[in-house]
Amino acid sequence: MKTLTTQVCIIGAGPSGLLLGQLLNDIGVDTIILERSSLDHVLSRVRAGVLEQGMVALLERAGVGERMHSQGMVHGGFAITHENDFHRIDLDRLTGGKTVMVYGQTEVTKDLVERRAATGGVTHYEASSVDLHDFDGDTPHVTCRIGGEDVRVECKYIAGCDGFHGASRRSVPESAIRTFEKVYPFGWLGIMSDVPPVSHELIYASHSRGFALCSMRSMSRSRHYIQCDAGDSVEAWSDEQFWSELRRRLPPEIAETLTIGPSFEKTIAPLRSFVAEPMRFGNLFLVGDAAHIVPPTGAKGLNLAASDVNYLFEGLRGYFLEGDASLLDAYSKRALSRVWKAVRFSWWMTTMLHRFPNQTPFEARILEAELAYTLESEATKAALAENYVGLPY
Ligand code: APR
Ligand code: PHB
Repeated sequence: MKTLTTQVCIIGAGPSGLLLGQLLNDIGVDTIILERSSLDHVLSRVRAGVLEQGMVALLERAGVGERMHSQGMVHGGFAITHENDFHRIDLDRLTGGKTVMVYGQTEVTKDLVERRAATGGVTHYEASSVDLHDFDGDTPHVTCRIGGEDVRVECKYIAGCDGFHGASRRSVPESAIRTFEKVYPFGWLGIMSDVPPVSHELIYASHSRGFALCSMRSMSRSRHYIQCDAGDSVEAWSDEQFWSELRRRLPPEIAETLTIGPSFEKTIAPLRSFVAEPMRFGNLFLVGDAAHIVPPTGAKGLNLAASDVNYLFEGLRGYFLEGDASLLDAYSKRALSRVWKAVRFSWWMTTMLHRFPNQTPFEARILEAELAYTLESEATKAALAENYVGLPY
């Protein structure tokens, strides 16, 4: 068995693990990242695409702001359509000058991987059988297999950045963890295609046939989603069927200008809200999707990963650089306070904009009133905008 030593062992090289690793690396705290998949697989995953300002600032701090600022798109607003009506949410005006950055998670990951390699950070890809040990005791360590060899990583702290299906949360005894979950009775069918976006801003469409979203990765690459049945399979949806269903859910004047083309990625994602409490177990910290999942409406998943990283980074910096553990001790409380507000917001957006099977007529009218009120009132629009650009860290 080969033994490695580091200050923080990070499980998972998704955005959480890579961002935490880079921030720590840059202040001289040593990390090793253990990632189950190959680098190619990590770089090929298509996920979210809207970054809050707090995340933009953290990426700048991690030394990966350059390509984001040159290729990402700053959006000062987005639209909500309701049947044939169009409403613009002016984020810039409603929040006193705040905006979001449209830049794909795939690109964020690529930038972080390159920066880690350039700054000498150690990442082991294709690390199998990752197992966490003694995180409640004095000798926290992680064992795994890398390239056919058994490896033991000894560390002071473990950061569980290994996503919803990772090993970290599962290694905590059930009696020590409390989980909260809501599964929504529909999914999102998403496609990526090299066609110009239908509008220069995102469009969230609430329609009697179901929700739809027109998003983008650049001015020549579009990302579109439609609400589908929870049990649907990707094979059952041809590109033609997708585009025609999307068109029907958009106001006619927008649908007419939609450019269609072949998709090069097509997936169905289930929608779920999930939170695990607490986010710390002895010397193990859960970060990002390992601790919580939100439905994609409102684009909070990736941004929550970034705010967790911010709190954990502050805690670890205090401990390693100043010998002060107070922020580390506050990690779970600080992170969860922000997590629950984003869980509430994404649940609210999801509930208001989707069509629920088995809804009573009363519930349907209440949601119509909720949406109408949200779009009429400056106060509710301001609350929507404040949450969309991201609550402060
Ligand atoms: N051992 C090592 N690595 C693992 C293990 C394991 N047992 N299980 C999972 N991983 C890796 C995955 O392969 C993945 O690369 O952990 C990483 C987790 O990354 P993400 O799932 O992307 O989670 P996170 O980094 O928290 O990113 C936040 O926000 O937009 C949302 O879901 C979206 O991925 C996004 C997330
Ligand atoms: C995306 O571009 O993938 C996206 C954008 C906004 C969302 C969800 C997903 O709310």
